[in-house]
Amino acid sequence: MNRTLVNQCNHKVGSKILLFGWINTIRDHGKVIFLDLKDFTGIIQTVFKDKSAVSEGDVVKVEGLVKKRPQNMINLDLATGQIEVEIEKLVIIAKSKTPPFPIDSEGQDIEEALRLKYRYLDLRRERLQKNLKLRFAMIAYMRKFLTEKGFIEIETPILTKATPEGARDFLIASRLQPGKFYALPQSPQQYKQLLMVAGFERYFQIARCFRDEDPRSDRAYGEFSQLDIEMSFVTQEEILCLTEELFAELCEKVFKKKVFKYPFPRITHDEAIKKYGSDKFDLRSKKDEGVLAFAFVVNFPLFEKTKDAPIAPSHHPFTAPKEEDLNLLEKNPMKVRSYQHDLVCNGLEVGGGSIRITDVEIQKKIFKILGYKDKEIEEKFGHLLESFTYGVPPHGGIAPGIERLLMAATGEKNTREVMAFPMTASGQTSVMDAPSEVEADTLKELKIKTG
Ligand code: AMO
Repeated sequence: MNRTLVNQCNHKVGSKILLFGWINTIRDHGKVIFLDLKDFTGIIQTVFKDKSAVSEGDVVKVEGLVKKRPQNMINLDLATGQIEVEIEKLVIIAKSKTPPFPIDSEGQDIEEALRLKYRYLDLRRERLQKNLKLRFAMIAYMRKFLTEKGFIEIETPILTKATPEGARDFLIASRLQPGKFYALPQSPQQYKQLLMVAGFERYFQIARCFRDEDPRSDRAYGEFSQLDIEMSFVTQEEILCLTEELFAELCEKVFKKKVFKYPFPRITHDEAIKKYGSDKFDLRSKKDEGVLAFAFVVNFPLFEKTKDAPIAPSHHPFTAPKEEDLNLLEKNPMKVRSYQHDLVCNGLEVGGGSIRITDVEIQKKIFKILGYKDKEIEEKFGHLLESFTYGVPPHGGIAPGIERLLMAATGEKNTREVMAFPMTASGQTSVMDAPSEVEADTLKELKIKTG
């Protein structure tokens, strides 16, 4: 007998089937007990006679007969609510201990550290199953959309050199060159620019980014994903149009939500601050559940003042200044506007990008304004500047954040709810206990002293 998936059972009234899955709930009605059986595709009611045999969470194999439910037992809320399976044979494949927390609830009230320690159980809850399936559907759609538009997906290294995006780096010690370190990329920014020099005019990647920065509800600690896009010979408006088309289609076909305004409004940074007091605004006047209000913010200042530095890039140091403001670069840098564009949605910054600097002299000038010395520029960015001397095409791109988009689409309040194995706010991994100590010999080999 071939395995049947739960959500295929509807078509099989009167036939014998074989199901595998978990016992989701047990309802004891005296003479009979109802076991709700769950697999990857859904839940089905089964009827069994022997109540002592199973407990919730057990993995079972069931052979049985698909029957129509009596009229008064039909449950239209359930995809399989018209039928039930009369069990003829049940085999327990694996027993389950009682889980440390309920998994048939929404789960938000359970302590975060406990949820993450047992993330493989937490992920069984329906809300998270739905979120991860939506994540997959969204990424699959992005790949299809961009592939059809002539983009190619290229993976870039994870063990690499620091690339600044405003956070601290994660470092990996080199064994072959003791005392030296790789950095995990805060984004593939420099690699995607190098790919433009290499002639891959339309690149994308579902890219993992690593940033050591204080977490917030919309800022995952450690790692998160981006849809990283870069194009050559494009205008800023062309980048915005492509992004807009992709997200409007995603809303309609994947999220099943309405777009508040199409085309997405383009608002200057100045206007945004004046009108909304923030560059991450919500265009909706009330929190309207089924609607995604996208907008682009443009004309950002090139530099900003931060708590750590009197002058820092508003975005990253590769963003091009507006040509008409070039003469202000040295005299009044804080007045220079740039080709940065942010995509906001329902009050979240869901993406950022820009047209890039491709003029070596301007790029050097900007590094200097940011306080880099000549030697540092050469050490940190010499490779990129050198590549630009071999025929660099004008280019630009954008990187929408996968988790933030899903937060907007699902209404979830934290990035962790749309990631499979996120870290805790204090930087502890889910399930596996990292960071953790390593053996003295390993440290010795890497020539690292601790303490
Ligand atoms: P930026 O740093 O603005 O740009 O990042 C782009 C988008 O990534 C998302 N994001 C995050 N999501 C979850 N957790 C985080 N810690 C986190 N940090 C960022 C946001 C943000 O808008 N290389 C440039 C892109 C480019 O210029 O093309 C970059 O990474 O949604």
